[in-house]
Amino acid sequence: MSEATAKKALICGITGQDGSYLTELLIRKGYQVHGIIRRTSTFNTERLDHMYMDPHEGRVPLHLHFGDLANAARLRHLIQQIQPDEIYNLGAQSHVRVSFDQAEYTADVVATGALRLLEAFRDYALQSGKKPRYYQAGSSEMFGASAPPQNEETPFYPRSPYAVAKLAAHWYGVNQREAYGLFVSNGIMFNHESPRRGETFVTRKITRALGRIKLGLQEKLYLGNLDARRDWGHASDYVRAMWMILQHDTPGDFVVATGSSHSVREFLELAAHYAGVDWKSCVEQDVRYLRPTEVDSLKGDYSKARRVLGWEPEISFEELVRTMVEHDLELAQQELTLVRAGHHIAPRGGRMPRSEEHTSELQSLAYLVCRLLLEKK
Ligand code: NAP
Ligand code: GDD
Repeated sequence: MSEATAKKALICGITGQDGSYLTELLIRKGYQVHGIIRRTSTFNTERLDHMYMDPHEGRVPLHLHFGDLANAARLRHLIQQIQPDEIYNLGAQSHVRVSFDQAEYTADVVATGALRLLEAFRDYALQSGKKPRYYQAGSSEMFGASAPPQNEETPFYPRSPYAVAKLAAHWYGVNQREAYGLFVSNGIMFNHESPRRGETFVTRKITRALGRIKLGLQEKLYLGNLDARRDWGHASDYVRAMWMILQHDTPGDFVVATGSSHSVREFLELAAHYAGVDWKSCVEQDVRYLRPTEVDSLKGDYSKARRVLGWEPEISFEELVRTMVEHDLELAQQELTLVRAGHHIAPRGGRMPRSEEHTSELQSLAYLVCRLLLEKK
């Protein structure tokens, strides 16, 4: 397919876990992909680097543009310039615990940010005469305290500033669909993970720590509530659902889930089994990771997505956990190799010295490698 005839997708939140899997999927399908990235003082395109091609080397299916959900004029300009067929809004301050500390910021990016992008989309759709399609990344957190199993008919009962903001974004989308007849669809996605998951979400925090504990790079893992239950799937299955939602004849709202749930403790037990670590000897509770209001139990009923879209998850819970553990054992092995080569790494007892987010950043191998490269200069 030539550049001129390829479908164009614009992804906000392209540098995140889902953004990277969605980009891979769309490129495989022949799309020209445009992504909005935030200007940061360090590189934040680690999850995309394997797909990026120097424009001097030939045809480029991936284009990155600076922008921010806080900047309406820029969003409007990018949409007008790119003229996308499909827009995926995956951009968010996506950490539930952090949203309690940064409630106003979370509302601005997640709720008002979605509105900014939607209004730019609406004006583009109405003025261009094209029929572009818009996907909003909604969350099972919006169900919050409503009992499982949750489906499209379940009442929303958000339990965090993040969930309240996602709910506003969801209803902004529904309203634009009804008010202007636009193709706006909401995914209501249950938790989905992968080896690319951010390191402060509980699954990756666990697999990352177990890999390091196994190889003697870390002693302890501190966690919060082990009793919470989540419906965990694999991100690659979920981005396929996003794409299918936008290919459907009519817009709508879809729960995307696996239909089974596990506690954090069960995830930990299985991951420790695959890693060959006795978790009871190294895991301790730290109240800092408890939430002021918790979502106790999420389990999705995805029968609408199965019936209407023909979507099914393909990767099992066991396979998800195993691939995450294997990936993070490999990462720990690389880290150990650097340590053995004499590179100094700050001591880590597993206790988080600063914020959880910052420690995770310090622990990332990418950071370590950058530091070593800088040291060599
Ligand atoms: P993620 O890894 O945290 O990625 C979030 C993305 O949003 C990143 O690319 C981030 O950019 C970008 N972003 C943050 N603030 C922004 C801003 N002000 N303007 C523009 N972009 C901004 O999240 P994810 O797991 O891929 O999830 C994708 C979306 O689905 C999010 O909206 C999340 O809330 C939602 N969701 C996720 C799950 C899940 O289980 N993963 C479930 C339901 C819904 P930087 O790289 O610069 O930070
Ligand atoms: N992050 C974290 N860190 N969570 C912990 C910890 C810990 O040390 N210990 C226990 N937990 C518990 C949390 O209290 C929560 O009940 C559960 O593990 C899952 O937490 P997260 O992995 O942070 O995910 P989440 O469910 O709060 O939110 C994720 O899924 C949502 C969809 O339901 C995020 O990806 C959201 O962006 C997404 O919308």
